[in-house]
Amino acid sequence: MATARQQAPGEQSTLQDLAKRHLWLHFTRMGVYAEHDIPVIVRGEGCHVWDERGNRYLDGLSALFCVNIGHGRADVAQAGADQARELGFFTNWSYAHPPAIELAARVAALAPGDLNRVFFTSGGSEAVESALKLARQYHKLTGHPNKTKVIAREIAYHGTSLGALAATGITGLRAPFEPLMPGGCHVPNTNLYRLPPGMEPGDLAEAIDERIEFEGPDTVAAVILEPVQNAGGCFTPPDGYFQRVREICDAHDVLLISDEVICSWGRLGEWFGAQRYDYRPDVITTAKGLTSAYAPLGAVIASDRLAEPFLEGTNTFMHGFTFGGHPIGCAVAQANLDVLENEGVLENVRAHEPDLRDMLESLRDIPIVGDVRGAGYFQALELVKDRATKESFDDRESEELLRGFLSGELFRRGLICRADDRGDPVIQVSPPLIAGPEEFAEMEGVLRPVLEEAARRMHVTPA
Ligand SMILES: Cc1ncc(COP(=O)(O)O)c(C=O)c1O
Repeated sequence: MATARQQAPGEQSTLQDLAKRHLWLHFTRMGVYAEHDIPVIVRGEGCHVWDERGNRYLDGLSALFCVNIGHGRADVAQAGADQARELGFFTNWSYAHPPAIELAARVAALAPGDLNRVFFTSGGSEAVESALKLARQYHKLTGHPNKTKVIAREIAYHGTSLGALAATGITGLRAPFEPLMPGGCHVPNTNLYRLPPGMEPGDLAEAIDERIEFEGPDTVAAVILEPVQNAGGCFTPPDGYFQRVREICDAHDVLLISDEVICSWGRLGEWFGAQRYDYRPDVITTAKGLTSAYAPLGAVIASDRLAEPFLEGTNTFMHGFTFGGHPIGCAVAQANLDVLENEGVLENVRAHEPDLRDMLESLRDIPIVGDVRGAGYFQALELVKDRATKESFDDRESEELLRGFLSGELFRRGLICRADDRGDPVIQVSPPLIAGPEEFAEMEGVLRPVLEEAARRMHVTPA
């Protein structure tokens, strides 16, 4: 395997210079890099990656919830290369090719219930955008043209294209681009650590019913929810939540979209998050772990009922992307699913989820750790100023804590994870699904001293 040339100490990095001059980083305060280096990751193997200087990191975030099978799988890369030689590209606009056909059939067989129709995209935002348009056109075709609104949850992230952004419930991501696509409505999320005043966990699904009633059921097309909500820090659903949401959607002829861009392909120990929580969505959106990100690919998986009107006469889903269902992406996805299936990867998550959770729970003796939550290999620690009162950090303190200390220090000590304050400050870990106790111990070896130091810096003392 070719390795990138590693830089001698003190040597000027050409990659640094070029990145600083030309590369536009996503969601990044690029001004900061006038004085700091950009982390340049050059190689990965298993649960670890290396930077251009040869420093090794535990990838505790699976490269943004993507690399489920771990890094450096030559067999998966080879599947892409073989496909490129056979048929590098053809489109799914009016044409089909074997990789897309065979992958659609395999995905349909793994998906719950009658979710049998697969519309491929290049990634997650495209999948969400497509699902929202599908919901709108479905209702038009079935005689309900005013059903256009989408109900999502506060602080949820559903992607960045303007339609998906209308579902995303994070003010900071929306404000620079207002006005957004109309019709995005938000209800409380399932943050069980901080329930809205007067609410019980059982009320959270009812908030969706109330919002549909408030908007007018004949104006609402869909509800979009992640099985476990990422933004805000791995909010799991209370018991019975999704079953009640299903009833509510059925009562109002509203489609239930399960946004599983993160929560599918083993992340929660099942193929799909909907299987872990035993509910039946009308549509699943997915991406990331579908290929373990060895190539870009996303998908909308729709129920037979939803697809049916589009199969009649001249009806057409008036939507597509040139690269949706790219043959290389599909071939890579097949190889990725082979690994997940043949190497017991989902079983590994089920076996070791308790070990990951125990390790995180063991950090509760550090006074800044307020809550530990999540499911599968998708877990978060919420950081608080005062554990007894659950008082959180204000904006300035959160800035100092996360960007002034935690993000840099965790990375410097060799752990890639996420320090995030789109809701209250959290640290998220979401390692490759091949990880086990050894990697969790490595994670703890960084988390513990860094969180202890964070508590000291922020003057958080035991209650
Ligand atoms: C739940 C969810 N939906 C949609 C998206 C958007 O996916 P992408 O970044 O591939 O466009 C993400 C990305 O993290 C996500 O987590």
